[in-house]
Amino acid sequence: MVHRVKGIVVTGKNEPVSLETVLVPDPGPGEALVDIITCGVCHTDLHYKLGGISDDYPFLLGHEATGRVSAVGEGVTEVAVGDRVILNWRAVCGECRACRKGQPQYCFNTHNATQKMTLEDGTELSPALGIGAFIEKTLVAAGQCTKIDEESDAAAVGLLGCGIMAGIGAAINTGAVQRGESVAVIGCGGVGCAAIAGAKLAGATTIIAVDIDQQKLARAQELGATHTVDSSASDPVEAIRELTGGFGADVVIEAVGRPETYRQAFYARDLAGRVVLVGVPTPEMTLELPLLDVFGRGGSLKSSWYGDCLPSRDFPMLVDQYKLGRLPLDAFVTERIGLDDIEAAFEKMHAGTVLRSVVEL
Ligand code: APR
Ligand code: ZN
Ligand code: ZN
Repeated sequence: MVHRVKGIVVTGKNEPVSLETVLVPDPGPGEALVDIITCGVCHTDLHYKLGGISDDYPFLLGHEATGRVSAVGEGVTEVAVGDRVILNWRAVCGECRACRKGQPQYCFNTHNATQKMTLEDGTELSPALGIGAFIEKTLVAAGQCTKIDEESDAAAVGLLGCGIMAGIGAAINTGAVQRGESVAVIGCGGVGCAAIAGAKLAGATTIIAVDIDQQKLARAQELGATHTVDSSASDPVEAIRELTGGFGADVVIEAVGRPETYRQAFYARDLAGRVVLVGVPTPEMTLELPLLDVFGRGGSLKSSWYGDCLPSRDFPMLVDQYKLGRLPLDAFVTERIGLDDIEAAFEKMHAGTVLRSVVEL
């Protein structure tokens, strides 16, 4: 059976998004059909529209989603009909070298649904990040679904599916922040703010937020920053050292993705401190560093992909932390909108006035 549902599609580079009828097939082997409950609007959706990610138009946008499994294909064991789930970008194979090493986040054989969703004329859609969730029903690989319990706000917990997980995971997984440590976060957009919330959850006692925008700093303070540094007005490396007894932070998380902020992160850490890189640079960006500084300061420099998260371990755990009042996911939901409001949400995101707009279906 084919399901005819409404979804948000972008047909060409920088075209406005449109609400289209989409044909969604019943799940085949290893696939699951999911009724979407909520889906956050992320920078990545905008980048698909602007042509920064791929040219495989038309795209079905949306990927930070919760839903309910309405059908499963042959051989599916990961989830069952009726399960409430958070979606993630890729199902892992469980068999490759990375999976066998216990690092499925680096799986070589990640996969999405095999069957395609199409427009009415048969044109195949490319789902954003292998999900495509600004739609009433979507088709994913069953391994992209993580079951969560019923008792939580879907709009809030759905944000764990992408950018917010990337930030929290940078602190708790990649940075392995310990109780009592000092953490500096450079860049306080959605990802940086989530890193601040993650650092607080992990028990950091000094959390320094750095940004060039005072409004972002005020928000960072609400999410757990103990100190703020306006890096358009003062040198953030000096300021972070001053706030940490002259040493530098135990963990510095870079959430901007620019050479100058990579450099600041590098020098703002304590001797033997950890630098965690979450901000994604562009291909032409470079950074020159004296090798003696690279060698002599010790510690580590790690990049963090998707917060080094394991959805099956981290999503339910973080939902529990949220329910216990230790993780302020509600604070990331700035507004709740409908499918028709996505273009406006992109504009607000671009202007930096929202952390997340979340579509409720
Ligand atoms: N110094 C400090 N902060 C800066 C600087 C700078 N030189 N330049 C920009 N910023 C701040 C902005 O003011 C903003 O608050 O960085 C923040 C970036 O936030 P967003 O644009 O909302 O981006 P976000 O979604 O948080 O993602 C940040 O992480 O996952 C990656 O691809 C993502 O590279 C991006 C980064
Ligand atoms: Zn995203
Ligand atoms: Zn694998």
